[in-house]
Amino acid sequence: MEMLTVSDLRKSFGQFEAVKGVSFTVKKGESFGLLGPNGAGKSTTINMITGLFPPTSGSISLNGIDVVKTPKRAQHWIGVVPQEIALYQEMSARENLRFWGRLYGLSGKTLHKKVDEVLDIIGLTERAKDKVAAFSGGMKRRVNIGAAIMHQPQMLIMDEPTVGIDPQSRNHILETVKRLNSEGMTIMYTSHYMEEVEYLCERIGIIDHGEVIACGTLKDLREEIDDRSRIILTLEKAENDLKKVNDAVAGLFSEREYVWQDSQLTVFHKQPQVILSQLIQKITESGTTITSVDIAEPNLETVFLHLTGRTLRD
Ligand SMILES: Nc1ncnc2c1ncn2[C@@H]1O[C@H](COP(=O)(O)OP(=O)(O)O)[C@@H](O)[C@H]1O
Ligand SMILES: [Mg+2]
Repeated sequence: MEMLTVSDLRKSFGQFEAVKGVSFTVKKGESFGLLGPNGAGKSTTINMITGLFPPTSGSISLNGIDVVKTPKRAQHWIGVVPQEIALYQEMSARENLRFWGRLYGLSGKTLHKKVDEVLDIIGLTERAKDKVAAFSGGMKRRVNIGAAIMHQPQMLIMDEPTVGIDPQSRNHILETVKRLNSEGMTIMYTSHYMEEVEYLCERIGIIDHGEVIACGTLKDLREEIDDRSRIILTLEKAENDLKKVNDAVAGLFSEREYVWQDSQLTVFHKQPQVILSQLIQKITESGTTITSVDIAEPNLETVFLHLTGRTLRD
């Protein structure tokens, strides 16, 4: 059963097309991650799904409800944690959660019980009475997550919830999301941290320049790069030499098998140990000094680099 179906979604801001025909589905109970660098179109996509603004074209169906036609109707099913924190700074954590609970129609004992339960989930029971203004960024983010789950939504949609927060809160958030998902909540999570989506998400869409360039399980995505590892060589910087190195390398590999970033050369290969000595020999012969050699297991960074020629955090 599908919880969310997004088809050929587009969004233009004036002349600029920020989202260019994005399609994906999220099944009930699944955790889906949208991974992409800054400016890829993650927030724009999320904001259309949550009904903040309509798409220029395309369709979004949430639990069978047409989000574009009736954005209000779909909101009942989802909890949203936006990229920007939205809380009443002068109110305590408890008061903020009470506020959101009332907004969702909770009151009396039910509200009280729910607030206690959510405070426990976000790990802020001890700090419930403190003003949000006094909280760290990570604690504020946790209150934000609490607010989003006060009405027991079927699906939780989170936009880069761990950006700019302390490691302890980050871990707490990842654990909380993992737990909510294991208890049956459908998750959609955006990030530019590949470790987070690798850890949390069953299926991952990689987004770049407004397009989903690959989508599937981690296993699917690794197969996309033929399970290749990366050999990362950092070379001593000297423009002329690099041209010579490039000529040497070009003889060893096809165009799709290596990428240059400044004086760093990355080679994608299934058996890095086998090719490494040959590679080092060629480079040394061309008169260039290698300052570091690293081999990285195939991961989402490898997939992204292979597909785009850039790293996620370029
Ligand atoms: N309201 C807007 N007006 C004009 N351009 C926008 C607006 N919102 C986003 N953009 C642009 O659209 C692109 C995608 O932005 P965004 O969805 O925020 O990316 P991400 O969340 O992946 O970092 C960026 O180039 C951004 O500058
Ligand atoms: Mg964003």
